[in-house]
Amino acid sequence: MTTLTTPRLTIRPLTEADLPALVAYRNDPEVARFQGWPLPSTPQQERQLISNSPLGAAGWVQRALVTPTGELVGDVGLNTQHPQAELGITLSRAAQGQGYAQEALEALLDFCFSELKLHRVHAAIDPRNRAVARLLLRLGFRHEGTHIQSYWHRGEWTDDAVYAVLREEWKRG
Ligand SMILES: CC(C)(COP(=O)(O)OP(=O)(O)OC[C@H]1O[C@@H](n2cnc3c(N)ncnc32)[C@H](O)[C@@H]1OP(=O)(O)O)[C@@H](O)C(=O)NCCC(=O)NCCS
Repeated sequence: MTTLTTPRLTIRPLTEADLPALVAYRNDPEVARFQGWPLPSTPQQERQLISNSPLGAAGWVQRALVTPTGELVGDVGLNTQHPQAELGITLSRAAQGQGYAQEALEALLDFCFSELKLHRVHAAIDPRNRAVARLLLRLGFRHEGTHIQSYWHRGEWTDDAVYAVLREEWKRG
């Protein structure tokens, strides 16, 4: 198990007690619009995200983003295929626009490059998702290319844009 801390967040494993809030924001159409999980989100489905595997274990490992008052504001996922990984992030609608995602991903990327010694981290996004594209560019990711209508998602062929950052590029680390 791995817990990371930032000035405003604890990044820790999800628990059974997180499920009602997690399911609520994952069923919010604005939050789910560009995300791959099946709808409606259910506790049975989201329970699969509860894992004490350490960040960096092979495959997807999900973590809760929690404020000092214990509020679940979102979650991050890291899919490690050492020495590379893919990340994903989701915030509840109420938690967006406050810098929580940037703060969480800076901590996660520090961990990826300093502790896990990864070579490259990438994210694959729907290019219509302007908020996440802005976030990734702000963090120093590079837009490497876009696969056009490369997967079927919620009733339409969807583009897939790949963003990535190398360890040597991360804060010149
Ligand atoms: C993608 C997502 C996490 C981005 O969230 P976000 O709130 O835009 O990102 P941040 O938490 O970094 O906040 C940045 C915004 O907060 C503002 N902000 C306010 N206070 C801030 C602070 N203290 N520090 C940094 N930014 C702050 C910034 O100006 C920025 O706004 P802007 O993008 O309009 O310029 C969010 O839109 C989301 O959860 N979407 C649904 C799920 C999804 O699609 N995920 C992506 C799939 S990988």
